[in-house]
Amino acid sequence: MAVNDQMTNAPTLNSDAKGMTAFEPQDGLSNILITGGGGFIGSQLAYSLAATYPDYRVVVFDLFNYKGSLNNLDRRVQNVSIFKGDIFNDEDLSTAIMAYQIDAVIHLSAQTSVDASLATPYESSKANVVGTNVVLENCLKHGVKKFVHMSSADVYGKAEAPGGKFREDVAPRPVNPYGASKAASELIVHEYQARGVDTFIVRASNVYGPKQFPDKLIPKSITLLQQGQKVMIQGTGEDVKHWLYISDVSNAFNVILHRGVPGEVYNLGSHHASTNYNLCSSMIKTITGATDVELWMNKVPGRPVVGKPVGMDFSKLEGIGWTQQVGLEEGVAATVKWYGDNAAKWWGNLPQILGITPK
Ligand SMILES: NC(=O)c1ccc[n+]([C@@H]2O[C@H](COP(=O)([O-])OP(=O)(O)OC[C@H]3O[C@@H](n4cnc5c(N)ncnc54)[C@H](O)[C@@H]3O)[C@@H](O)[C@H]2O)c1
Repeated sequence: MAVNDQMTNAPTLNSDAKGMTAFEPQDGLSNILITGGGGFIGSQLAYSLAATYPDYRVVVFDLFNYKGSLNNLDRRVQNVSIFKGDIFNDEDLSTAIMAYQIDAVIHLSAQTSVDASLATPYESSKANVVGTNVVLENCLKHGVKKFVHMSSADVYGKAEAPGGKFREDVAPRPVNPYGASKAASELIVHEYQARGVDTFIVRASNVYGPKQFPDKLIPKSITLLQQGQKVMIQGTGEDVKHWLYISDVSNAFNVILHRGVPGEVYNLGSHHASTNYNLCSSMIKTITGATDVELWMNKVPGRPVVGKPVGMDFSKLEGIGWTQQVGLEEGVAATVKWYGDNAAKWWGNLPQILGITPK
């Protein structure tokens, strides 16, 4: 079903193509469908691709059952089409792929949270493993030439990291259902590569930036602080995460679409790592001006098992033209500003989403 009249009070969007490399448009790559295209990463990727390649058509395919996702879309952009559909519905996928003569699919739709996957592991497998299979089967059936699959650094978990970094050829050893479901989905992707679809797998570190639903560390901490509440720190806060700003992620997909080698796995890592404690301390100082950051922290129990705090070797992706452009300080500052200006009108009842009682 095409989405026509659902956008009512959505704020105006600007296409943010910052940092996207403009490659020569490729023959046979005019129509690109993004599953989960209404979400945080998909929507910003869609508008960046559409702005960089005016001759391409980008189809945002999404269930739109996600809070605020319609606000991520701007129907005035001529070369973006919006399709409401479920990746578990063959008919929805077939209709969209055939109607728009899709050449490439970027598959982002997923159950995306580690904590949710620990609570409902079967849901995670269904969404991420079976869901990927359904999308790939429809790609094969309808002659889609390229399939770019969003996996995660979580597949590595407690894997061996020779040289202190995870390389793409390291055998995954996930430690949570989310990572396991992504690792399993990768095997299905390899199978379709063997059957004739050109596939590309992206294992991404933690992504942040404007328009991310405030249930992940950075947007949740920012919105809590902006509501005058304490941030939540899991365990001691010593977990290390590697951070990628959204525009660098959009550009990685752009590079892989135009320069990627079929059948390859690409680590999408970051030069910017921080413990959760240090990252939260810096957001507390910026937003509240406090010097005693501990006063603004609620310590809650950590996850039962965490992966190794090592980063990924992403020289393969750099070798085909990707570079990280946005540092953590710059990216967090832009994100803090966006949430201050927009969070309330984007998601509505923030105290309810954050599980807090307003002061
Ligand atoms: N955000 C991160 O830090 C990060 C890091 C590594 C990998 N990833 C991966 O990137 C992808 C996108 O993540 P995101 O942060 O944009 O998530 P998101 O939750 O913002 O977006 C996911 C979108 O998928 C849609 N969706 C869910 N089920 C669907 C279905 N059955 N049919 C159609 N659409 C459906 C949702 O409506 C939502 O708009 C996911 O595969 C995620 O696992 C994210």
